Amino acid sequence: MKNNYLGCICFALAGLLVSCTTAKPTGMRAENLTFNPNAYTTGSITVDGKAVNYRAYEGITYVANPVETTHTAWQQMNIYVPESAYNDQSAPIFFKNEIGGYMPADPAQISAASRDGSPSAIQRALAKGYVVVSPGARGRTSQEVYNPGDNPFAPAKEASGDYIGKAPAAIVDLKAAVRYLRYNDAVMPGDAEKIISDGTSAGGAMSALLGASGNNPLYETYLKEIGAADTRDDIFAVISFCPITDLEHADMSYEWLYSTMNDIRKKNTGGGFPGGGAGAFGSPDARMPGNPVNQSTLPVLRDDEKALSAELAALFPEYLGSLGLVKADGAVLTAADALNGVYLNYIKEFVIVSAQEAFNKASDKNSFKSTYSWLVFDSTGTVIKDINFPVYLAYVMDKQPLKPVPAFDSLGVLGGASSGENDTFGTAAINGNNFTGFSWYKNAANQGTFPDEIKERAYLMNAMNFIGAQNTDTAQNWYIRHGTIDRDTAFTVSVNLYTKLLNKGYDVNYKLAWERPHSGDYNLDEVFAWIAGIK
Ligand code: DHB
Repeated sequence: MKNNYLGCICFALAGLLVSCTTAKPTGMRAENLTFNPNAYTTGSITVDGKAVNYRAYEGITYVANPVETTHTAWQQMNIYVPESAYNDQSAPIFFKNEIGGYMPADPAQISAASRDGSPSAIQRALAKGYVVVSPGARGRTSQEVYNPGDNPFAPAKEASGDYIGKAPAAIVDLKAAVRYLRYNDAVMPGDAEKIISDGTSAGGAMSALLGASGNNPLYETYLKEIGAADTRDDIFAVISFCPITDLEHADMSYEWLYSTMNDIRKKNTGGGFPGGGAGAFGSPDARMPGNPVNQSTLPVLRDDEKALSAELAALFPEYLGSLGLVKADGAVLTAADALNGVYLNYIKEFVIVSAQEAFNKASDKNSFKSTYSWLVFDSTGTVIKDINFPVYLAYVMDKQPLKPVPAFDSLGVLGGASSGENDTFGTAAINGNNFTGFSWYKNAANQGTFPDEIKERAYLMNAMNFIGAQNTDTAQNWYIRHGTIDRDTAFTVSVNLYTKLLNKGYDVNYKLAWERPHSGDYNLDEVFAWIAGIK
């Protein structure tokens, strides 16, 4: 009897402890997840000469337990409803993330013009009658900053400065935003079963991952922690421009592709990515104005860098073989195919298709041929039958110098310059980490075995792991583009993503986009025609 009594007290105390640690202390924010359809402002934009009136719901917090920070936009979304959809429950939702460089992102504003002054993707989407949603998301530099919220009597508290946006935070936030839309589907204009996600680069990787990993239970604990709505997070369609995905294998892919060029490969010396800091992404960014690169002043690779490159390249065949990808002709790509030219020919085919389309459209065929001297035409002079691959790669590298070796999981992470990806896999207290076994063991500053904890987070950030996986609802519709002069990740990354999706029965519109550098949201007429055609 006595024992039972004690047991009860212990049980009650344990319960109290649990509730103390999970409940939010006074002064922290707890948000209501119910959407209020009446709390909007109105506005109007002109798209291609046509005025579009809209209702704006801006700064909507999409989780019940937002992270502790004064920068509240990271877990908020902006929602824009065009007049045509005010009372329409069936309009698709164009879900555009602004993530770049694995940095934190704020929700986009509908009024913001695109860089070249033409209507932005979300402006076009609004004009097409879609509900536009842009979610913010945490990223690699997000830090905790004490936020008293609405409570003026909240006790003063030190900001911990902890990192709160390391992987997999960005994808967890996007999933939470999708859940918010589905949770509120009945009271919101638009159809949460028709979410079309769009993103570029790191944002393209997150868009692909969002589509690949719908409802996968591995994210559940993270979603609970931030108070995501308890509902599904699968989506209808993915638009992904130049996805920097498959980070687990991106270094070996990069070196498989480019190690053949090591004798003329220039070494990057500086940063230049906005917010990236020195060394982030290894080079000035071609998209940024005022970033001309005089390659002749850059050094070539040292012998130890060449050796490292060869070591990484040698890991790729086994990886390729492990994917078991099947080409359109029914042949399975084996490890041997990475060495015997079969896989290289497969990559070439995508470049050839892209070049042929451009050639057919070119008004001056001769000048096209002389500019792209690496294209090999058949005897009629009108059909491209091959490309001189090393000369093509040299052309790509000439547009922008390649990344350093390794391209993503930098060895300097605990001492010298680290990459943006290193910083993506930091922890609350540590800014950057190696995230592949290869670089972990190569970097003398690391101690002990490569931690499972980091390995698991790298897994959770990779779209390739979730396509058609068990307990997962992968999006049916995919539009993927990767530029023919984009050297930010190997062409193999998007080719493999496409092939795996196709093999698993998804509908994929994939192309290497002719003469496009690392960039996104181009060819918007084509993009919206594709959206209109998916079912
Ligand atoms: C981005 C570009 C990169 O080269 C990279 O490694 C990661 C992200 C970007 O533009 O988002």
